[in-house]
Amino acid sequence: MAEDTLTITDNRTGETYEVPISYGTYPDYGAAIPAGDLRKIKTSDDDFGLITYDPGYTNTGSCKSSITFVDGGRGILRYRGYPIDQLVKKSTYLETAYLLLNGDRPDQQQLDDWVHNITMHTMLNESIKKVIDAFNYDAHPMGMMVGTLGVLSTFYPNAKDIFDEETRTRQIWRLIAKMPTIAAYAYRHRRGLPYVLPDNELSYTGNFLNMLFKVTELKYEPDPVLERALEVLFILHADHEQNCSTSAMRNVGSSHSDPYVAVAGAAAALYGPLHGGANEAVLRMLNGIGSVKNVPSFVEEVKSGEAGRLMGFGHRVYKSYDPRATLIKEVAHQVFEVTGVSPLLEIAVELERVALEDDYFVERKLYPNVDFYSGIIYQAMGFPTAMFPVLFAIPRVSGWLSQWQEMLLDEDQRIARPRQVYTGHDVRDFE
Ligand code: CMC
Repeated sequence: MAEDTLTITDNRTGETYEVPISYGTYPDYGAAIPAGDLRKIKTSDDDFGLITYDPGYTNTGSCKSSITFVDGGRGILRYRGYPIDQLVKKSTYLETAYLLLNGDRPDQQQLDDWVHNITMHTMLNESIKKVIDAFNYDAHPMGMMVGTLGVLSTFYPNAKDIFDEETRTRQIWRLIAKMPTIAAYAYRHRRGLPYVLPDNELSYTGNFLNMLFKVTELKYEPDPVLERALEVLFILHADHEQNCSTSAMRNVGSSHSDPYVAVAGAAAALYGPLHGGANEAVLRMLNGIGSVKNVPSFVEEVKSGEAGRLMGFGHRVYKSYDPRATLIKEVAHQVFEVTGVSPLLEIAVELERVALEDDYFVERKLYPNVDFYSGIIYQAMGFPTAMFPVLFAIPRVSGWLSQWQEMLLDEDQRIARPRQVYTGHDVRDFE
């Protein structure tokens, strides 16, 4: 019978080694060998042993996780086993956040308590207003968010007690609750508008719209279609296993720093144009293309390297249509019924059509990702482009915190500290 091991022959020495193969839920997806076992492979007793070389961790399992499953080849995304399309149809963002953090869906009492506890933590300390006031009028809201998250760490010194479950849970409520408030304050600071206090009678997304867009009315009433559209976008963005920002969250958290600074680090990673900043870049790109007739020449420029990358296309894991992009396209139509159709939609649809018929994109398996259509929706809802990555960060905090908590409670985990292949000088004298 076949054994679950790998036999390696080192042709430098002729020695043979056997290493175990372990599996996750699916034997054909995620079979792994322990990297540490490669250290036994040496040419002499003084040899350090083999390491793997994997820039960008494209083929390295950094953890075992039971939170999110992504099969990029087949376009599958599930949170705790539930397909993303079912969650989008049947759940809310806060219920999904509970599911991610606790492993199972809440019963009605658990859900009521969860929503209550988050709703009771939406306010920010008054001093935070001074922090946000100190930013320039044109400061990027993502920079304000990263900075404010770091500042929050100083308000809750006991958050450092990360192995105390009650303390940890309280910080989780606070972070999920305060992200929309920080985002709304950053938005209103840039517009020179007074900050709006949270309205605890509204839903999570309804209150967010209230804090963003309330003017002089006594009670803000969110449009139910836009409120639900944001809910769907938040569910879709809640987690995506070991992506760049989540790995940053786990890496920062692995030194046992508090969750506020770890979330600040994760948000900083999300900010970049190759990750959560891509939705902002898509809008700039579509504006730059300007008209449907310019699409073919733009695609040629992308292929020749003159126009940079086709933003909102391609993914490290998805080598087929990103399932989130399919669901976002549906939301786009619902939103446009309320807001009117964005002129950029026509350009985006044509760009997608041309790219998906082009050999360059077909051969490289480049499909639209989550960011391709989300920016057009956000723009139609009245968000300035600079707010787009912030809208990604708000829901992703539940994923970051789920992954952080899983990492803290996982006995296999240690401080993140990769190796390197040194290619510099041999020792030389300083003369
Ligand atoms: N436009 C044109 N060419 C592309 C693109 C693109 N968007 N993406 C990849 N390629 C090409 C790339 O040039 C390379 O070609 P070649 O083999 O000839 O050198 C090939 O496809 C493989 O690309 P890669 O850079 O090795 O792929 P990666 O897995 O390292 O990068 C990515 C993944 C998402 C960073 C990349 O596809 C990209 O830059 N996309 C545009 C930015 C974007 O939309 N990011 C959002 C990602 S989804 C949301 C999120 O995770 O935050």
